[in-house]
Amino acid sequence: MKGIILSGGTGSRLYPLTQTVNKQLLPVYDKPMIYYPLSTMINCGFTEFCIISSPEHLPLYERIFGDGTQFGLKICYKVQYKPRGIAEAFIIAEDFIGNDTVGLILGDNIFHGMARMKPFLEGGIIFAYEVNDPSSYGVVEFNDDNQVISIEEKPTEPKSKYAIPGLYFYDNNVVSYAKTLKPSGRGELEITDLNKIYLEKQKLTVIKFPRGTAWLDAGTPETLFQSGAYIQSIQE
Ligand code: G1P
Repeated sequence: MKGIILSGGTGSRLYPLTQTVNKQLLPVYDKPMIYYPLSTMINCGFTEFCIISSPEHLPLYERIFGDGTQFGLKICYKVQYKPRGIAEAFIIAEDFIGNDTVGLILGDNIFHGMARMKPFLEGGIIFAYEVNDPSSYGVVEFNDDNQVISIEEKPTEPKSKYAIPGLYFYDNNVVSYAKTLKPSGRGELEITDLNKIYLEKQKLTVIKFPRGTAWLDAGTPETLFQSGAYIQSIQE
């Protein structure tokens, strides 16, 4: 199992905070934001990581984590030159992934209370989390038997309340599937399009987060503040 942490993007929803500082290094209570997704992946059993970020910000991560030895991990680094989408990470990290399975987490996604992942061999595993307004996320729709009927990226009229958080697990086919994707209207290789490939092949498992699991996307001033307050209260 190889782990990817994608720490890209311009962080425009957090301007002016992110005009000079990288979003995923902003403090969430007492630690840089990226510590939280890293610890989620460690809890899931990952020990080998590739951190992907822009040419400008990647050296900062190298300074914080080095080769990972101090944390008992192996960490390498790769550049995403332009924000060309989450799914591009699997193409950038092809050598790192090798013949392995892979987990990807977004550097601004904070999870708490997640169960440990079981090792997986085939297909894709993503998650669903009920929110009031899922229109700024990937959205998954279920039928009465809990089977997935559709997945859409940022629909104006969401077919369900279930947002897809930024945590994804795939078999090794993900690299070749990512290479078949075409850029979306916003010029990105969409993770939602990749998930649709697994869905069409009937190889996608979508797990609804149980009660007691928290997911925070710390990418806006409100949610950054809420994340800090949440971490402070659970730590204390
Ligand atoms: C991305 C994905 C979206 C997912 C979200 C989770 O959105 O495209 O499917 O629900 O991350 O944070 P973006 O950060 O590109 O707006």
